[in-house]
Amino acid sequence: MALDRKPTPNDLNAFWMPFTANRQFKSNPRMLVGAKDMHYTTAEGRQVLDGTAGLWCCNAGHCRPKITEAIARQAAELDYAPAFQMGHPIAFELANRIIDMAPKGIEHVFYTNSGSESVETALKLAIAYHRARGEGARTRLIGRERGYHGVNFGGISVGGIVNNRKMFGTLLGGVDHLPHTHLPGQNAFAKGQPEHGANLADDLERIVALHGAETIAAVIVEPVAGSTGVLIPPVGYLEKLRAITKKHGILLIFDEVITGFGRLGSAFAAQHFDVLPDMMTTAKGLTNGVIPMGAVLTTAAVHDAFMDGPEGMIELFHGYTYSGNPIASAAGIATLEVYREEALFERCAAIAPYWEAAVHSLRDARHVIDVRNMGLIAGIELEGIPGQPTKRAFAAFLKAYEKGILIRTTGDIIAMSPPLIIEKPQVDQLLDTLRDVLSALD
Ligand SMILES: Cc1ncc(COP(=O)(O)O)c(C=O)c1O
Repeated sequence: MALDRKPTPNDLNAFWMPFTANRQFKSNPRMLVGAKDMHYTTAEGRQVLDGTAGLWCCNAGHCRPKITEAIARQAAELDYAPAFQMGHPIAFELANRIIDMAPKGIEHVFYTNSGSESVETALKLAIAYHRARGEGARTRLIGRERGYHGVNFGGISVGGIVNNRKMFGTLLGGVDHLPHTHLPGQNAFAKGQPEHGANLADDLERIVALHGAETIAAVIVEPVAGSTGVLIPPVGYLEKLRAITKKHGILLIFDEVITGFGRLGSAFAAQHFDVLPDMMTTAKGLTNGVIPMGAVLTTAAVHDAFMDGPEGMIELFHGYTYSGNPIASAAGIATLEVYREEALFERCAAIAPYWEAAVHSLRDARHVIDVRNMGLIAGIELEGIPGQPTKRAFAAFLKAYEKGILIRTTGDIIAMSPPLIIEKPQVDQLLDTLRDVLSALD
C-alpha cells in the first residue's frame, strides 16, 4: 500500500537499519513503497529502475504474479509446519527441483533462512563431516581476504572485509585466509575473467604447509565475489583451488549466494566455470528475494558421511525453526518455475555481451579507474577522494537515486546486478544515467 505522505524523521527512530548510515538516511529518507518488474516506486511517486535486483536477489524482477499468488495460496493452506521430525511435501518438492538444476554430483539440500545462515551451516557441516569420518582434527576453516560470507560469526571469521570484522572481538579461532584476487595493476578493465592471478590459489599450499592438511576442514570462496566490490576469478584460479583442496582432502565450499540462480547465465557458477565444489551455499534468488530462504547444497559424499549409526538417532544436531518453511518453499517452487518458463538464465547469457559492452563504455567516464563484469554483474571502481574513502561512490549512489536508478556501492566501487529480465533500452538507461552522474561528481 502506498504511503500517502512522505515520512518524517520522527517516524523513523525505532528501526535501527542494517548496513545503513542511519542518521544520514533519517534526515533525508529514501522510501520505496511499491515495485513492479524492473522498477521501484518511491514514496514521492517516482519510478526508479532497479539496477541491483534489490540486494542481488530479485532475479525475476518484482511482484511477479506467479510467485505472489503461490505465497498467498500456501499461506491459506498450510502456513507453518515443524521441520524437526515432521515434514510437508513442498519442502521435498523444492529440494528435488533445486537438485534437478544443480551441477551433477550435488544431491542434497539443507534449508536455512539466509545467506549468512547457509554459510554457518556449511562451515559446521564441513567440520562435522570430517569428524563423522574419523578425522576430527580437521577443524580449520580457510576463507579469503575481501571475502563476504554474511554477517554471522563464522561468516565474518572466514570473510575478509575489515569493517565487518573489526568491531566484533576475536571471532572464530582456527581460521586462515587466502590472498584476494584483486590485481588492478595487471587486470584493470578486463572483460569477463581476468588473465592474471591463477597462481594466487597456490597460496593454499603455503597454508597447508603451515598448519598441516590434517587440521584443515574446508576452504570457502565466492566464485564471483559481489559484495566486496565485484571480483571475477582469474582464468584457472577456481580450477587450481579445486585441485589443491582435493589433493589434501579439504572440502571446497562455493558461496553462491549471489551467483546462484542465473546471475552468470547458468543456474550456478559451479556450472559456469565447470568446477564442482563439495558444498554450495545459496539464498537470495532461491525465492526471488521475496521470502527469506537459503539452502546449502551438498554432494552425496558429504551427506552420506552422516547417515551412519542407529536409524532412530538424529544424524545432525543442526536446523532452524524455519528450515523449509511451507510459504518459503512455495515461493521457491514458483520462482524456479518462472526462471524456467521465461528461460531467464538463458536470457541472462544472451544479454551478457550487450551488458559487457555497455558497462565497459564507462571506461573513459570521469573518476573511473576500473570496470569488471561477468554475466549480469558489473563493478565500476572509482578513484577515491584522498583521505575520504567511500565518499565519492556514496555521492554517486545518492545522485543516481535522484536521477531514477538504483545502484549499490561498496567502498569506492559501484556494483550493479539488475534483474535478469532487463531489456537493452534499460541497460542503456542505467549506463547513460551513471555516466551523467559521474561527470557531475566532484
Ligand atoms: C556471497 C554472499 N554470502 C552471504 C551473503 C549473506 O546473505 P544474507 O544477507 O542473506 O545473510 C551474501 C549477501 O550479500 C553474499 O553476497
